[in-house]
Order: sequence, then structure tokens, then C-alpha cells
Amino acid sequence: MTKVAVVTGGTRGIGADITAALVKDGYKVAAFYFGNEEAAQACAKATGASIYKVDVTRYQDCMDACVQVEKDLGSIAVLVNNAGKTNDGMMHKMGAEAWDDVISTNLTSCFNMCRSVINGMRERGYGRIINISSVNGQKGQFGQTNYSAAKAGMLGLTKALAMESAAKGITVNAICPGYIRTEMTGKMKPEILEAIVKQIPVGRLGTPEEVAAAVVFLASDKASFITGSTLSANGGQYMS
Ligand code: CAA
Repeated sequence: MTKVAVVTGGTRGIGADITAALVKDGYKVAAFYFGNEEAAQACAKATGASIYKVDVTRYQDCMDACVQVEKDLGSIAVLVNNAGKTNDGMMHKMGAEAWDDVISTNLTSCFNMCRSVINGMRERGYGRIINISSVNGQKGQFGQTNYSAAKAGMLGLTKALAMESAAKGITVNAICPGYIRTEMTGKMKPEILEAIVKQIPVGRLGTPEEVAAAVVFLASDKASFITGSTLSANGGQYMS
């Protein structure tokens, strides 16, 4: 039977490539988006994925959206928590709203979505949850106390939920992409990005396809003995 996958932030950046790769691998994909209607329509047209406009920072909206996906497409087997944003600035200049914004979009959303699918996965005895964290959650990053905290929080959530879910046939893993060529890194000052690329042994930014390939693997039955793990995809920038 065709498995159903939900990808948050699934119509732009790394998420759009995750959606495309999962569709190509035979999944029915529900791609969640929030801000950019045009990109969402383009992604649906290009991949055939179903798109859902959901504010993943809101618990009840996530719950309702997952019920709707299950009505439309079937039981959710795979959840990819990819929605994320940056709001960079040094701590001594950061307002509370930049903190809340980044924590709620990257980390609270991960709780909201996991909570929305976990009971169904437990009842069915099967599930794959893949959390897209970041190299900056592993090593910290100048100007990103909010983002580094949120992404590190996702790693803790991954491990704890993996423990709780292992006996129920559910794996929970994290991927930590490094610096990937997307809109997010495109917004950085070129000289800062250049300095970071110099720290990447592979000598270049990663591609969204390279992250998507790791998601497809962790979602597959071939990865059934892997849970609670953190897979780095960072060109060697940080080896943990
Ligand atoms: N390490 C050490 N010092 C640094 C530094 C660094 N990485 N970056 C800046 N500084 C220093 C500057 O040289 C400057 O020093 P002086 O005052 O002595 O000249 C001081 O810190 C202040 O720097 P700025 O003038 O640049 O300060 P700003 O407030 O204008 O900008 C910032 C600060 C927005 C955080 C900027 O440094 C920045 O954009 N940093 C990059 C943050 C980053 O890596 N973001 C990643 C986005 S992509 C992503 O997050 C995806 C993912 O998962 C990997």
C-alpha cells in the first residue's frame, strides 16, 4: 500500500526537494506550507504532492491538519519536521520576539506535529519521524542563540521520543544539514557565507537533493534499526 508522508515547510528550500524525493520514491506526500502561496502551487504542480496551508506554530491547527490529511490520503506513516526559519542577531541586540519566533517555528512546531501523529503511529505499530535540525544545533553559531537553541532542542526531542517509541515500531531520527544552497543561506552577507564555505572540507555548499536523499533513506524500511540517531550532512564542516 502507498505510504503517506507529511513534510512541513515542504514546498520551498530543502523541504521542496524532500517532497519531490519522497513522491519519486512512491509516497503520497502532504506538503505543509504557510507563507508563500505561489511556491506551494508550483511545488504541487511540479511534484503532484497535496499541499496544505498550516501554521505549524499552532497546536490545534497541526492536529486538525493531520486529521484532514488522513481523511484525504490515508494514515500518516512518515513525518518530516522541516519547517524552520532564522532571525539572526547577537544576543545583546536580540528582542524577545526574535527568540519566540525562532523557537516556536523550529522547535514548538516539532512538538505540535509529533504530538499530532504519534498516537496513530503507536496504534498501527509503525512510523518514521525525521527531524531536520542543523549543524548549528550541534556546534552553536555566532549570531544564532535562538536558532542554535531550537535546533539543539530538536536533537533532545528526537532522542527522548525515539526511546518512548522504539517498542511500537516507530523510529525517530534527526538530520543535521550543514550550509545548503537555499533561500536561507542566500540571505546571508556574502562575505560571511564565503568565510563559512572556507571551513567546509568538501569546499562547497551542500544541495537540497543531498539532504533529501538522507530523508528517503531514514524513511525506508532499510533504516528500521536506526533510531535516536543524528545524521550529519555538512561536507565535513563539523564532525561529532
Ligand atoms: N565569529 C566571530 N566574530 C564575528 C563573527 C563570527 N562568526 N561574525 C561577526 N563577528 C564579529 C564582527 O567581526 C564584528 O566585530 P567588530 O565589532 O570587532 O568589527 C562583530 O562580530 C559584529 O558583527 P556585525 O557587524 O556583522 O554584526 P551585525 O549585528 O551586523 O550582524 C550577524 C551579526 C547578523 C549575526 C552576522 O554576524 C551574521 O549574519 N552571522 C551569520 C549567522 C549565520 O551563520 N547564519 C546562518 C544562516 S543559514 C542557517 O542557519 C541554515 C543552517 O541550518 C546552517
